[in-house]
Amino acid sequence: MQLFETRAELRAFLKEVRQRQQTVGLVPTMGALHEGHLSLMRTAAAENDNVVATIFVNPTQFGPNEDFSKYPRSLEEDARLAAAAGVTALFHPPLEEIYHTGNATWVEVVGGLTENLCGRTRPGHFRGVTTVVSRLFNIVQPDRAYFGQKDAQQVQVLKRMTEDLCFDIQIRVLPIIRESDGLALSSRNAYLSVDERQAALVLSRSLEQARHLIEAGERDTKTIVETVTAFIQQEPLAVIDYVELVHPDDLRPRERLEKAGLLALAVRIGQTRLIDNAMLEVA
Ligand code: PAJ
Repeated sequence: MQLFETRAELRAFLKEVRQRQQTVGLVPTMGALHEGHLSLMRTAAAENDNVVATIFVNPTQFGPNEDFSKYPRSLEEDARLAAAAGVTALFHPPLEEIYHTGNATWVEVVGGLTENLCGRTRPGHFRGVTTVVSRLFNIVQPDRAYFGQKDAQQVQVLKRMTEDLCFDIQIRVLPIIRESDGLALSSRNAYLSVDERQAALVLSRSLEQARHLIEAGERDTKTIVETVTAFIQQEPLAVIDYVELVHPDDLRPRERLEKAGLLALAVRIGQTRLIDNAMLEVA
């Protein structure tokens, strides 16, 4: 695996790859790699001749009171894990390689997809995500790009952007990787104390509650959301940011669950904001 810090070096590498007519898979990350990231890298390695993974803690997707400065950074360990997962090129650019001085261009998906769920409590977040990912798409020009269903709204927003901006890139979406007790892996889990780690199980367990309700025949989204909300509220360390059951494609609420719904949660456990979701399918 080669490590690159500048666009110029990475482009030179990619030019050779293209001359050999090889395919390229891209896995964008913010580092502090865990099995969720590594599952994307392994799949990318199985489906492409080369895998470019990026590690860039993107300042523009963090709000002013969010955790940009304390976000975990562990490049050496990340590089070891990425190489073992089949990454051929690791791109770790300094800020100015992505946002040069005088930067005045933003990429923003407007409308419904970015308005509810995380869009409501993290204004500007998705604008930061689409701006950085469009730049990475332009720098790497991959055949395929890999994202996790853990960030279900991010996936829908990036699919929209890819289509609207005519990127010739296949978006591959892979399932949520969980700890054996159900907690979805996240770089932010590192912030949790022992008690908070236990309390954080309320997210995945509440999604299980919803699954049981659907199996028992419940289709009214308000009832499902209220039951999940009440379940989470039983956990003293949990403060709900949102619980929403939306259509998986347009992310808008529906009164009744028809074929499938995306149940998405954001919950604060102490100072740490965690997200999780489940695709609820009606048999
Ligand atoms: P980051 O949070 O580092 O996540 C990188 C990728 O790993 C995302 O596609 C995310 O959905 C996926 N991922 C995280 N946890 C996962 C899990 N438990 N199971 C499966 N996939 C998981 O998402 C971002 O970074 C940034 O917004 C980024 C796209 C890199 C733009 O800055």
